[in-house]
Parts: sequence; C-alpha cells; structure tokens
Amino acid sequence: MSIPLSIPNLSGNELKYVSDCLNSEWVSTEGSYVEKFAEATQEYTKAKYAIPCVNGTSALQTCLRLIDLKPGEEVIMPTLTFIAPVNAVRYFYADPIFFDCDNFFNIDINQLYDFLKKNTSYKNGKLINNVTDKIIRAIIPVNIFGNSLDIDALLEISDQFDIPIIEDASEAIGTFYKKNRHAGTAGLMGCLSFNGNKMITTGGGGMILTNDKKLGEKASYLTRQAKNNKVFYVHDEVGYNFRLTNVAAAIGLAQLEQINQFLEIKEKNFELYKKIMNNKNFIDIVSPPSYGKSNHWFYAIKINRNYHRNIPQIIDFLEKNGVQARPIWKLNHTQKPYKDCFHVDLSNANNLYDKIFNVPCSTNLSEESIMTVCDLL
Ligand SMILES: Cc1ncc(COP(=O)(O)O)c(C=O)c1O
Repeated sequence: MSIPLSIPNLSGNELKYVSDCLNSEWVSTEGSYVEKFAEATQEYTKAKYAIPCVNGTSALQTCLRLIDLKPGEEVIMPTLTFIAPVNAVRYFYADPIFFDCDNFFNIDINQLYDFLKKNTSYKNGKLINNVTDKIIRAIIPVNIFGNSLDIDALLEISDQFDIPIIEDASEAIGTFYKKNRHAGTAGLMGCLSFNGNKMITTGGGGMILTNDKKLGEKASYLTRQAKNNKVFYVHDEVGYNFRLTNVAAAIGLAQLEQINQFLEIKEKNFELYKKIMNNKNFIDIVSPPSYGKSNHWFYAIKINRNYHRNIPQIIDFLEKNGVQARPIWKLNHTQKPYKDCFHVDLSNANNLYDKIFNVPCSTNLSEESIMTVCDLL
C-alpha cells in the first residue's frame, strides 16, 4: 500500500532506548523504563497515578476489576466504538448496555441523562435499570477518534446518579478538555492504548490513569500478579500478568518525548484535508467539538446522504489506487456476542454507520500524499 492508513513514526530515541534496555538485560516487566514511562505519562497527563499495562484492553479489564464488577451487572457504553471496552465488560460476565452517539461520535450525553432520569431507581443504594431490573455499575464513555468528551456534563451525571465513570481514552493521548484537562483523567479512572496505530505506540501497551491513591496502588498490585511479598511468593488476591515490559516502555518513553510534534503535524494535516474536502458538496471532514482540543487521531470523512457511491465502493476504489481507508466499526449492538444486550434508540449511530470512513492520518504523511487522497476522492 503506497499510502497506509496509520503507521507509527519511530524517528526519535526509540532505538537508543531499546538498545539501552537490551544491554541492561532488564527486558521483562521490571526495569527502569517502565517507571520512567509511567512517570512521563503522569507528568504529561497530570494524572496522579499512571499504571502501565500490556495493552489498553487489559487496562480496561483492570479498571472493571477495581470497581468489583459482578456477573449480570450492567455497564453503560456507546454502541459506536471499537469492541475492546465491550469485551472487557463481558470478561466479568456482565452486560454492556448500548447508547447512541452525538455528531462527534461520542456517547449521546442528553440521551444518557434522559434515560437515567426516566428509567432508573435506587434499591439498597444501587442504581437499577428499571427496564431490565439489573444494577448499573459504571459508564464507559469513549473518546472516539480522539475527540474530547464533554467532561463537565459527564461528571454532573456521575454525581447526580452516583455512578462512576471509567474513561476509555485509548484513542486520546494528547486530547484535552477545555485546553488543560487531559482525556482519561476526570472520571474515577481512565485508560490509554499504545497499540501500533495510536498517537504514540509501544508496539502493544496501555496505561491506567487515576487520581485516587488507593485505586492507583491496587491497580499496580493487580497488574503484577497481586504479589504481596516479592521474595516469598505470597499472593492474597487473584492478580493478572498485565504489566508492560521494559522493552515496550523504552519505545513508549521515546514516543512520548515526541508527542507535541506529532500533535502539531496531525492538526496541520487535518486543516489541509479540511481546506480541500470541505469545498466539496458530497463529502465533509468532521471537525472535533469546540469544548476540547482534539489530538486528531483519526480523520473522519462523512459522505452526504444523497451521494451515489457507498463506503465499500469508495474504500475499494481507494485501495485499488494504493490508498488505505477503512470504514467505521460495525456497531456493537449488532455484533454476534452482544446482539441481545439492552439498548436504547440508536438512530444516530445507525445513520452514521454507513456514512463515515477514515483516511490516511500517519504523522509522516506528506502534503503530496494528502493531495493524492483528496484527488482520488
Ligand atoms: C476505543 C478503544 N478502546 C480500547 C482499545 C484497546 O486497546 P488495545 O488494542 O491496546 O488493547 C482500542 C484500540 O485498540 C480502542 O480504540
């Protein structure tokens, strides 16, 4: 593929730090780079605690363990998201319940508020979904394509209904709400992903963010096999082997050093796409919400309702011409394991589903490549 969708930019200190890590022989989960990467993430996001994990999915799983999610309980989430947070809920034999999205693709907060107001009650201090008679334990909003969530509105809901928020900010390192509140740091906990296609990568990796000391310490404990005594193998709880390796963290540290540069390029390229695309009447590039500063992780192109070509045709045409593009994820309420889960009206997500696709967005994308993509479109 001559113009790939999203590839990592490893032009900083990655090789240097990895060589140093290999020379130190600390290649597994102990080692100085894991600590350094966690500290750098803490400093960048201003989260009080940052706990490195093997990937974003395991970070989400750990957060749900930390709230002691039980089988049969429910977690509110958007239908329009990559499936990882949905699966994380099911690992506990709990049920995702699906909500619609707004025009920035994030969970529809007005719908969420209306639903909670009209259809929930409290029984023994627990929030009950009156429709299913099940306990609702948490809300997992997702920063889709790196778009900021409306944090104040979400926190109000969290307070009013006494329900914790676990932010899935996997796509959102570098995204800030109202300029200074980093994604994933407003709720009880938040998660980042450093998968290969993310803003910064560790190959595979993730991070739990929290401002709560107890949760931070427990997350660190659980992700390291719940080791109570390092020498004598005492484990008082069932833990996970979820800690990031030193090799991956070495890459992560080098990546994080470059984040401001990556953010600048992402924004510049977004503006260039926008300048060209938004002059067309059949196609638009979707702008992020004004209440936040987006990292512009993925650029979303929306086709006009009356346009005579559909997304598979467009993607196929681009592929044949050496440009990788991709459709939005199949909506989770239609995925086989989740098709029987409770959901509310999902008309906006259903409507957007076959109107949106993503175009190349790597930080090493040249202006010429962007022109090629736009010309083809
Ligand atoms: C919204 C969202 N949540 C969770 C994940 C899972 O992260 P990982 O692939 O690191 O497990 C991803 C991406 O991969 C994602 O896009």
